[in-house]
Amino acid sequence: MSSSSDCSGTNVLQESSSSDSKNADLLQEYIHAFIISKVVFSACELNVFDVLAGSEVPLPLTAISELLGTSIRGTEILLDACVGLKLLKADNQNGEVLYKNTELAHRYLRKTSSKSLFSSIIHYSPNVFRKMDLLTDSVKQGIPVCKMQHGNPEDAFFNLYRSEEQMIEFLQCMESSWLLFDKEAVMSAFDLSSFKIICDLGGGTGTLAKVCDAMYPTSSVILYDLPEIIQVTQEHFISKGDNRISFQKGNFFKDPLPDADLFILSRILHDWDDDTCLKLLKKIYMACKPGDGVLIIEMLLNEDRTGPLIAQLTSILMLVVTDGKERTLSAFKTLLETAGFKDIQLGANGKIMEVILARK
Ligand SMILES: C[S@@+](CC[C@H](N)C(=O)[O-])C[C@H]1O[C@@H](n2cnc3c(N)ncnc32)[C@H](O)[C@@H]1O
Repeated sequence: MSSSSDCSGTNVLQESSSSDSKNADLLQEYIHAFIISKVVFSACELNVFDVLAGSEVPLPLTAISELLGTSIRGTEILLDACVGLKLLKADNQNGEVLYKNTELAHRYLRKTSSKSLFSSIIHYSPNVFRKMDLLTDSVKQGIPVCKMQHGNPEDAFFNLYRSEEQMIEFLQCMESSWLLFDKEAVMSAFDLSSFKIICDLGGGTGTLAKVCDAMYPTSSVILYDLPEIIQVTQEHFISKGDNRISFQKGNFFKDPLPDADLFILSRILHDWDDDTCLKLLKKIYMACKPGDGVLIIEMLLNEDRTGPLIAQLTSILMLVVTDGKERTLSAFKTLLETAGFKDIQLGANGKIMEVILARK
């Protein structure tokens, strides 16, 4: 509070009550944020946005609840919350409210939209949401929920990949999350054309391998992941047009790495603690020839820990689901230098996702 007050203290009181009210609003927002997530999750799980998209005209509550097979009371409350969240539009026509999707919901929340985030949402609810319930315990113990619950020492992926269905669900979530980042900007943050063999380690569904393949036609691209993931990816995420990409199955901690000039680690290091990251980086360093590189793609925390909020919240997610965390650029530099890498450069920003290139 900076302004001076008159002898009655009026300005001070006014300012104090306005900042109190802003703080109260902010806290209300924080306290209710989980309800917002759950409204979005439930609306998707119930196919609200697909049902509305399937109708040529806006629909009344009774028709929507019949199509969804849900109660009138629950549906009305859910639809109204979606209106408040700007996911639906409500139009009162002679006392009857008609609902339709907003552009935002139509584009991102329908199952069949080309920009659909539906898979991420279906993975978050209930899987991640339930784990979040144990955040306090995770903070106390410093370990992910899977290690608390199963009492086993296995890594997050061992626990995540319990069935083919769970694998596909996680991979779809990874794939759809790239809709929120600019993957072309990420892959062009540096000119990678001098690297003739590019290997995407833990490349999942091959999202970046495909971009790399299109952007650097004179390089060959290897997609490397756990054997079961390569199999699922080849069956579900790779099309005939991706025939220039080759595949290698393996565990990057235990098995030999492919011969390559550049190793991509996209959203890999944030899954692991510092010692494990170092073990992997040292292994990559040993596989590199002088001049070869490693390309790290991750969100970066500000050096002064002030943000960005999305990286701080993703770090919370990493705490409950993995042994890792988001890091600052200097933390990555320390890891890379300790592993032996030099010429560490930060590339142009790929919107949220940052790109670091280092060489042997
Ligand atoms: C968070 S996902 C990132 C996927 C992809 N790089 C991206 O950015 O979309 C982590 C990936 O690492 C793979 N992975 C985990 N442990 C692995 C291991 N020991 N060896 C090889 N791949 C592994 C997972 O199967 C998964 O595809």
